[in-house]
Amino acid sequence: MKVLVIGSGGREHALLWKLAQSPSVTELYAIPGNGGTENLASSIPIGMDNIDDIVSFAQLMQVDLTVAGPETVLTEGIADRFRDEGLALFGPSQAAARIEGSKSFAKEFMKEYHIPTAEYAVFDDEQEALAYAEEQTFPLVIKADGLAGGKGVVIVQNQRDAAGVIRHMMEGISFGNAGRRIVIEEFMQGEEVSVLAFCDGHTVVPMVPSQDHKRVGDGDTGPNTGGMGAYAPAPVLTPALSKQVYEEILTPAVEGMRQEGFPFRGCLYAGLMITDKGPRVVEFNCRFGDPETQAVLPLLDSDLAEVMMHCVNGTLSPSDVRWKQGSAVCVVMAASGYPYAPASGDKISGISDAEKTGCLVFQAGTVRLGGEFLTDGGRVLDVVGTGKDLSAARDMAYQGVVQIRWGGEQYRHDIAQKGLDHLK
Ligand code: AMP
Ligand code: GLY
Repeated sequence: MKVLVIGSGGREHALLWKLAQSPSVTELYAIPGNGGTENLASSIPIGMDNIDDIVSFAQLMQVDLTVAGPETVLTEGIADRFRDEGLALFGPSQAAARIEGSKSFAKEFMKEYHIPTAEYAVFDDEQEALAYAEEQTFPLVIKADGLAGGKGVVIVQNQRDAAGVIRHMMEGISFGNAGRRIVIEEFMQGEEVSVLAFCDGHTVVPMVPSQDHKRVGDGDTGPNTGGMGAYAPAPVLTPALSKQVYEEILTPAVEGMRQEGFPFRGCLYAGLMITDKGPRVVEFNCRFGDPETQAVLPLLDSDLAEVMMHCVNGTLSPSDVRWKQGSAVCVVMAASGYPYAPASGDKISGISDAEKTGCLVFQAGTVRLGGEFLTDGGRVLDVVGTGKDLSAARDMAYQGVVQIRWGGEQYRHDIAQKGLDHLK
């Protein structure tokens, strides 16, 4: 079976690594891939925004399965294009991808299907939004409706900041057209957890719960990032809460999308807040999480290509998805200056030493130059430790991290600490 993965991050490196273990997979391609994926897959220099050429490539090479990594290609309708051509693609249709692509759409959908989430209001008119914000209590959450690369959410503490953020978003200054419509919502207090789930349009099978670390600094300080690390399983989601998430969130979401005529096939990502009133949805994403995937896939015991084909064909059953015992911890190593102005072009040393400690090293922002890897992006590498429990996995991950150098590397020292605190 020939498999193509679209994307260039650590998430896609982890997907390729897991797909390479499927006995049925004979050939792997990456569009465009990165320095680290070249050992596993042929890198194809087609732009991710060039859906026509991606379709032509899949036809020409007779690709049996294409996996869409990032949300952008999905909200552009790549799954519909592949389906029209009779090609298999793991990922939702453009209509189903609105669950991530439009926050107002996602909120209205959740309201319709009684999925627990924060109270909210949607605005297209700046004056109405400003008047609404004046009547709210703080903190208050203001969100650009469209895709904003994970940066379209601002939590404000007072009236003045709210007014500034509303103006900047709605006048197109902060996020262009993505911010002309906004959602203002209630601030939810609690601990966050990510539940990714395989879906085939009607059956939904959750993966082990994971937890991201969005802030750049130890102790959740500093600016938000794409994610500085993750671990799985996350003990904050107890078996009782997992059951609640399955029954009150994942099942009505997948059932609702099927009823509305846009069944969800692919990976549904529920970003949840565990509040004192139970789990509530912060956001849905229409794809695998990054860096959650790098911590979740090493624990998957099943054949990923087979599970994905079941999702595409509508034949998924819970027994297809089996998990290993133990835990995984992913520490992101980022370039100096990340997230604002990451440095690039530095030579990376120690990757094979990190691998000798037992770690997996997934590459995100790298390029290969001759036999060497250079930094080429904010989040450079994901170092993943696995072990019989969270503490062993964490120890392995950090033993790997200290082997790697390029000068100016930065990483958090407390990945998985919240999980370990739960287990005390
Ligand atoms: P989103 O892009 O919707 O995932 O939001 C980014 C981050 O903002 C989330 O991971 C949360 O940490 C935070 N956030 C978003 N919505 C809320 C909310 N209603 N209450 C508290 N925090 C939120
Ligand atoms: N880890 C956050 C995301 O993938 O959106």
